[in-house]
Amino acid sequence: MATETETLRSLVATELERARDRTVLLTEAVDEDDLVRQHSPLMSPLVWDLAHVGNQEELWLVRDVGGREPVRRDIDELYDAFKHPRGDRPQLPLLGPAEARRYVATVRDKVLDVLDHTRLDGTPLVERAFAFGMIVQHEQQHDETMLATHQLRTGAPVLQAPPPPGSTTPVTGDVLIPAGPFTMGTTTEPWALDNERPAHQVDVPAYFIDRAPVTNEQYAAFLDAGGYDDERWWSTAGWRHRRSAGLSAPQHWQRDGDGWAYTRFGRTSRIVPDEPVVHVCFYEAEAYAAWAGKRLPTEAEWEKAARFDPATGRSRRFPWGDEPPTADQANLGQRHLRPAAVGAYPAGASPSGVHQLIGDVWEWTSSDFHGYPGFAAFPYREYSEVFFGSDYKVLRGGSFGTDAAACRGTFRNWDYPIRRQIFSGFRCARDA
Ligand SMILES: [Fe+2]
Repeated sequence: MATETETLRSLVATELERARDRTVLLTEAVDEDDLVRQHSPLMSPLVWDLAHVGNQEELWLVRDVGGREPVRRDIDELYDAFKHPRGDRPQLPLLGPAEARRYVATVRDKVLDVLDHTRLDGTPLVERAFAFGMIVQHEQQHDETMLATHQLRTGAPVLQAPPPPGSTTPVTGDVLIPAGPFTMGTTTEPWALDNERPAHQVDVPAYFIDRAPVTNEQYAAFLDAGGYDDERWWSTAGWRHRRSAGLSAPQHWQRDGDGWAYTRFGRTSRIVPDEPVVHVCFYEAEAYAAWAGKRLPTEAEWEKAARFDPATGRSRRFPWGDEPPTADQANLGQRHLRPAAVGAYPAGASPSGVHQLIGDVWEWTSSDFHGYPGFAAFPYREYSEVFFGSDYKVLRGGSFGTDAAACRGTFRNWDYPIRRQIFSGFRCARDA
């Protein structure tokens, strides 16, 4: 009979393999030339992401957890994200595609051996396989980054996926979330990262929150009303950016007769009216919300709408409960190459009746990225703490390109308010 440790080991092995299958798919879909090229100054060449994934896996699991000899100490510096900004990475003497593939395979062989020989308890780093979970999430996060790079590359389409399910339930308007405390963050989620910890009480005044993310049709109405030319709706910083960057519509949108078309993964078509808008920056989201007479939710408001169960007073792991997502609850994991229409996931709604909080599009919140009360950096300051402050805004909920392993009700993403190459959308809130 399998022991608990054996069950955990086999779960880790499955998750590592699933992440690698996705990495392989994203890096084998293009030719060698495409792998080494930089498709946008905001992104690394795909071959950098590939070897960086292997290098982090080597550092944490082969050397740190396993105590084994380094595989390639000589390349640590090349793949240290803090040493080289993305724009400089193509100029580095990176491993070529074949060498990078051999490297990540060698590291993975060693890691599976380390997994077999590691007690998954005793220190915080290995307790309930935390370090392995961190590496699974890291690879999945880079897979989402690589998917964003695919969206920025030009040329014939190379990715294929079936369309997401259509809308089955009308989901409109907003819901009132009554005032009161709820538990934000987590102390018990085994693979939660340091910035999600610890669980703490937050007293949230009453507010309304949209039952669904803002759709293409709603966003197009803002465009057609001249929202991009009207300073009233924009914050000072947002208006400055709107003008200097020449923003006139979400990224990848273009005029198509009297409507709009967009290009996604190399294919251009009319925007789908009831699909959540994606590829907007924080400032665009903020301006839309002001035009609509609303505002962006705070991070606490987003999480309370997603996790708080008024019947029990406790916070769930996910809007639908504590069980990991099924295919009919959330659009995650690159199963589809686009967000699903609003109303496509009634089974994924929260107890408050808020839909599509998990998956589809990352949702901008109005909150800066800070540590929770009692925050402790783990396992290293560079994971989160060095990003705390007012430079970054928090995004919640994951996108169609986020894997379930790196997505839960407590998960926090952060980015600069001008960024929109990520799969970012939003929903609105208002005071009660
Ligand atoms: Fe990384």
